[in-house]
Amino acid sequence: MAVLGRDDILYYLNGGNDEELYAIADGLREESFGREVYLRAIVEFSNICNKKCNYCGLRAPNSKVSRYRMEVDSIIDSARLAAEAGARTIVLQSGDDFNYSPGQVEEIILGIKESYDVAVTLSLGDRSAGEYEHWFNCGADRCLLKLETTAPDIYKKIRCGENYHQRIELLRSLQDIGYEVGSGIIVGLPDYTLEQLADDLLFLSALDLDMIAAGPFIPHPDTPFSSAETSDIELSYRFTALARMLNPLSNIPATSALDSFDSKGREKGLQRGCNVIMPSVTPAAKRKDYNIYPGKNAISVDVADTISRAEELVRALGFVPSASKGSSRRMNNV
Ligand code: 5AD
Ligand code: SF4
Repeated sequence: MAVLGRDDILYYLNGGNDEELYAIADGLREESFGREVYLRAIVEFSNICNKKCNYCGLRAPNSKVSRYRMEVDSIIDSARLAAEAGARTIVLQSGDDFNYSPGQVEEIILGIKESYDVAVTLSLGDRSAGEYEHWFNCGADRCLLKLETTAPDIYKKIRCGENYHQRIELLRSLQDIGYEVGSGIIVGLPDYTLEQLADDLLFLSALDLDMIAAGPFIPHPDTPFSSAETSDIELSYRFTALARMLNPLSNIPATSALDSFDSKGREKGLQRGCNVIMPSVTPAAKRKDYNIYPGKNAISVDVADTISRAEELVRALGFVPSASKGSSRRMNNV
């Protein structure tokens, strides 16, 4: 297929031909991954955050959140339950909670990797490159660091004064260290434009990412964006389908945020170019408090149940829950 230019991207983002776009994206996913879908089990181990992102329910000034911080042993325990239920990737995610020392994070990584043959992904926010390098040497495999937007001025606004250039620098350091690296954006933030989304797609694609995540913006009532418009979910499907066209080998999740709009959101994502789903295996009692956006973690079932429901969802579409760790095909093929 001819190279996809900015005008073509705008045409599709604008709904020029959804049927064609989704068919191409589905075909490319099939070429790269066949029938396999990767499951990533997320342990959301702390909802404490020292940042003030305007879009996020976990932002530090939100006093309505019931905050929790899991102990090292119970984090390892959640990962164990997920691994025993068949998960081959454990994602460790938290707010920007720097209370965990590098040694504690090391303990968690080693505790998981010593007992289970799984990949470990870190989604811990703005820790230092030195810390990330140490955790890579302890056996962590992947990192997820979202840009949320690739426009420096918008970044500064939505993340309350945070520095975009430092974030990009950290992302590049993670790639240099040797991690498989994922990033992405939120689709349909207040005042978004299709032009900006086209630029986001081109920028993210130029970063050579192993994983690209993009989900719809959902206004949270206890944030400065509470009265913003809910985004158009179709725009998120178009964005991830275009991300597939531009990055045939990257892992692209059908984000859980899709399900907050449409009970079949993740299914549609998987039929339109996505190849990953990320069920939460956070202990049921805490899951509802990891309330980044309304509807997040609404279902509370135990870990084995969560994994088997995710597998059922995959099978019901005619896909196969992959038995492999789902390492980056992009890395293996360059
Ligand atoms: N709507 C959609 N996605 C959101 N995130 C945070 N707040 C929202 C929201 N209101 C996403 C961000 C963040 C991830 C954990 O959740 O991309 O990185
Ligand atoms: Fe904290 Fe992440 Fe939410 Fe920002 S997006 S407030 S860093 S949890």
